[in-house]
Order: sequence, then structure tokens, then C-alpha cells
Amino acid sequence: MDKPIWWRNSARNDHQRAPGARVIVVGNEKGGAGKSTLAALIATSMLYRGSRVAVIDADLRQQSLSRFLANRRSWLPAAGVEAPVPLEYKLHDDPTLLAMADEEEVVSRFESAVGMAMADADLLIIDTPGSDTAVSRCAHLQADLVVTPMNDSFVDFDVLGQVDPMTLQLVRPSLYTQVVQDARGMREHHGRRLDWVVLRNRMAANDGRNRERLTHGLEALADEVGFRMGPPLRERVAYREMFPFGLTIADLAPGVRPANVSSPRHAARDELRNLLISLRLIREASDAAGDRIQDERGAVLHQMG
Ligand SMILES: Nc1ncnc2c1ncn2[C@@H]1O[C@H](COP(=O)(O)OP(=O)(O)OP(=O)(O)O)[C@@H](O)[C@H]1O
Ligand SMILES: [Mg+2]
Repeated sequence: MDKPIWWRNSARNDHQRAPGARVIVVGNEKGGAGKSTLAALIATSMLYRGSRVAVIDADLRQQSLSRFLANRRSWLPAAGVEAPVPLEYKLHDDPTLLAMADEEEVVSRFESAVGMAMADADLLIIDTPGSDTAVSRCAHLQADLVVTPMNDSFVDFDVLGQVDPMTLQLVRPSLYTQVVQDARGMREHHGRRLDWVVLRNRMAANDGRNRERLTHGLEALADEVGFRMGPPLRERVAYREMFPFGLTIADLAPGVRPANVSSPRHAARDELRNLLISLRLIREASDAAGDRIQDERGAVLHQMG
């Protein structure tokens, strides 16, 4: 049987891939898990830590990450604020139009964008749609690291693994897990590794019993299919209210924030730092440098504000 287009292309192009840029794919076939939010958060955080960050929004229909960046590019000069902006590689001037093109066209444009981004950056972050598409499969094949946010719910768990309704024991891995496992198998075939981190997002303050059962299920699944659990992100207004400005909590410094945006709690900053450590993007000991960069920039922003 003929292999699908994403498989054929990757097999053909893998050896051409430039070494260097690390590729992070934020993926989960479950919609609304927090992929675009997380992609924006990682991208902005790493800019302040000195990385040359490139992004590709592979969700051709929603374009949430791309919209976030367009807002950032508009808001910063309008507010007289200087802040770094990641390099964005678009697949098409009108991605929704491209979404209707044939898979071969989409995949070929995606792979050119990846090639260019990898030549220009040292960290490439790819946001993917909440569905199984050729471009999403392709993205997973490029991933050194897949980050999968999920809501703290068995509905989200079901996309990763199925549990027995009576015992809640894990029965089998589900569809999205298979996608990551396929990508991992293919990469291993070419001598490359794929690290996979699953983390719970929008965690409520009090949801003890559900969380305990879910933890049990996730631990069993992690053992069986080989992912690491990342630190959870709490449900916080700070993670969603700054989309119109194209900002994240990584951008905010004392005294510098858009009107009516609340000051992020220290706990949110700690959460973000723990996330970056767990994704192996920063080392615990070396992050003082990242904090210093942020503080210096904060002072600059403060003067401008
Ligand atoms: N930790 C959080 N706290 C509060 N709100 C959050 C958090 N994470 C995500 N959100 C909000 O949840 C919604 C879904 O997030 P997002 O769009 O990032 O998910 P997604 O996985 O990219 O969705 P899709 O599959 O549709 O692309 C958005 O309204 C976002 O602002
Ligand atoms: Mg999204």
C-alpha cells in the first residue's frame, strides 16, 4: 500500500535537515487543550533567554499563534514598548485558502518553511491543529520534543489512552498517542530521538479526587508509551487576557503592562520557569541569567512607559 504523503516526504527529506535548531512541536488532537497558549508562552520566554526563536503556525484554519503575533507586532510600536518578536514563517499569505489545497502542496510548503526557519533560528516552535492532518503528522516527524498540554479531565485523557470504565485501568493507548509513537519510530529509524512531555493545563485549585484518578491513569500511560509528565499549569487569567496585545506573562515587568491587565503572581512566573526546566530549555542553575535579562529589559520598558 502507498505510504501517505507526510510519510513519503519526511523519509525523502530527513537527511537534508540542517542540524542545529531544536524543534518543539506543541500537539494534541484534542481541541482547546492550550497548545497555542503554550506555544506563545514558550516562544516569548525563550526570546528573553537569548534564543533565536522561530515559529510556524501549522493550524491553517484557526491561526491562533499567528494572530497572537500579529497583535504583538501591532501593539508594541503603538504602545511605545520594545520587546523581542519571534521570526514567523508563514505557509501562505492566506493560510485558510491553503487549508483547502491538496495535501502535497501544504506539506511541501510546510517543509520549505521548516527548512528556512531551521537555518535562521536555534529554536523552532510549531503550533499544530487539534485534529489529525497531514501537516500535523509532518510536524511531529520534525520534533525533537513534543509538548502535549491537556485539560485535567478524562475527556482529554481519552485522546491519549482509553481506560476501563469499571476499574479505570488503562486498556490501550489512543489515536494521538499512536501519532507520536509513529513519529518516534520513524525518527529512531533515522537515528534521531523524540522526547515527549505531557502536562496538565488549566488545573483548578480544588479537584482532588478527579486529579488523583487522572494522575494514576497518566502514570500508567507514561510508563507504557514513554512520555514524561511536565509540571501543571494552573487556570489563570494571566494566561489568556493578553492575547489582544500579543503579550504573555514572560513580557510583563513591574510597572509595565497594558491598561487593566493584572500583575501576574510570582506563582505564575515560578510555574513558567519550572515548565522551561522540565522541557530542558533552561537549567535550574543557569536561569539567573534569564531572570537578569528580563529584569534589565523590564527596566528599559519601565523608562519607556
Ligand atoms: N492555563 C490557562 N489558564 C487560563 N486560560 C487558559 C489556559 N490555557 C489556555 N487557556 C485558554 O483556553 C482556551 C484554549 O486554549 P488554546 O487556544 O491555547 O488551545 P488549543 O489547544 O490551541 O486549541 P485548538 O485545538 O482549538 O487550537 C483559550 O481561550 C485560552 O486563552
Ligand atoms: Mg490552537
